[in-house]
Amino acid sequence: MIQLNCRNVNSKIVGEENGLNLEQEFTNYQDKIKEIIADLNKRKDKPGQWLQWMNLGYNEETLWYVKEYASMVQGRFENILVLGIGGSALGGMALAHALLHPYWNLLSEEERNGYPRIFFLDNIDPDSMNALFDVLDLSKTLVNVITKSGSTAETMSQFLIIKDRLEKELQDNYRYNIVATTDKKTGVLRQIAEQEGYKTFVVPDDVGGRFSVFSAVGLLPLALVGIDIDSIINGIKDMDLALKNTDIHENIAAQNALIHYLLDTEKGKHISVMMPYSSRLKYVADWYVQLWAESLGKNKDKSGNDVSIGQTPVKSLGATDQHSQIQLYNEGPNDKIINFIRVKNFDTKMDIPNIFEYTGIGYLGGKTINQLINAEADSTRVALADYKRPTVTITLDKVDGYHLGQLLYMMEIQTAIAGELYNIDAFNQPGVEQAKNYTYALMGRTGYEESAHQLQEKMTTV
Ligand code: PA5
Repeated sequence: MIQLNCRNVNSKIVGEENGLNLEQEFTNYQDKIKEIIADLNKRKDKPGQWLQWMNLGYNEETLWYVKEYASMVQGRFENILVLGIGGSALGGMALAHALLHPYWNLLSEEERNGYPRIFFLDNIDPDSMNALFDVLDLSKTLVNVITKSGSTAETMSQFLIIKDRLEKELQDNYRYNIVATTDKKTGVLRQIAEQEGYKTFVVPDDVGGRFSVFSAVGLLPLALVGIDIDSIINGIKDMDLALKNTDIHENIAAQNALIHYLLDTEKGKHISVMMPYSSRLKYVADWYVQLWAESLGKNKDKSGNDVSIGQTPVKSLGATDQHSQIQLYNEGPNDKIINFIRVKNFDTKMDIPNIFEYTGIGYLGGKTINQLINAEADSTRVALADYKRPTVTITLDKVDGYHLGQLLYMMEIQTAIAGELYNIDAFNQPGVEQAKNYTYALMGRTGYEESAHQLQEKMTTV
């Protein structure tokens, strides 16, 4: 199981002003945490609670359909192209990046065991989109368009461009190059898919985008490139079992949620940095940033009071960002909690040859890159403690599906518990919808005329 070390949050280490008396706080919040965990588990099956993501590890049916479809299309396509944005892209990207060979798309077909290359188009930059068409033969590409609402402007504009090109190239057969993941009943993409006869998968009810990674949203792209999704599911299930424990001393999601909440509300740590020491986990930090920001950044609490709360999440990469951000984290404002992710066993052992005797570099010879990256994680943690900066360290035995299933699920539960501590709705995103609606209005969507008019007026002054 993954581990959480929160020693460096203790006030004994980082001082009264910056840290917590953890034992005391765990005791103070023991009952509250018990209540929150019991309540989340009680509500998770009820419609309208947006907690169905807690059941995704047990959705045998989706798992079966995803694997069945993946094996059916295996060998038929050179590329998978995922269209989606935010919660419809980040989870799949994070897991694919972590679990595939880091240069997967540059490997030969044989080296990929016949599985396709994979591309995520999660932005609408015209230059990069056009450039993608230079390297992809669309007729040999399976396009997985993912949008829960079925109408997000970024995703649907990409889809319209690609559908048009595919149809011109393949005529009626173009439909076999598209698989849509969307709401089971509502939304424009659902209508189009049914009308045009695409294969479809469902974004389950009561699962928000940022909590959808373990539905077909994340699992399908992974299965299409041959990633063992069963091991991810096993990781979720084991973590789910561990996190059902209502004793905060045994529940790492509850511990980290409480630490973040208290440091934010009582010690002025308004920033949460996610810093994996593994390039393969780089996009896990991106995924976390969305999860933490969209879930907890709210202006009203559950009773409707104005609160304007939420920690600002920041992504960082060890050791790279030691040479970019750590100066600020050590000596700048003491307003952060830093989450290190450390990998115990990398897949590869990379020896550093002993070829020069110079004092400045001679010490490196005979060591491994593995030792170096973990020594850097440890020394940065200690340096931060010297500067009285609180940190927690999450340790993964390995970067594999089993441990990533655990890690991402743990962070989801941590977010849900934090939402309850802040007393806000962690599962809505009115701020995102507002910007989406303004975009619809600006682009002339029917039904948004009034909004477009107001927006035109505002744009002259704002
Ligand atoms: O987490 C969320 O709800 C959002 O980030 C959405 O995933 C994102 O806006 C994309 O929405 P949709 O899946 O409806 O296209």
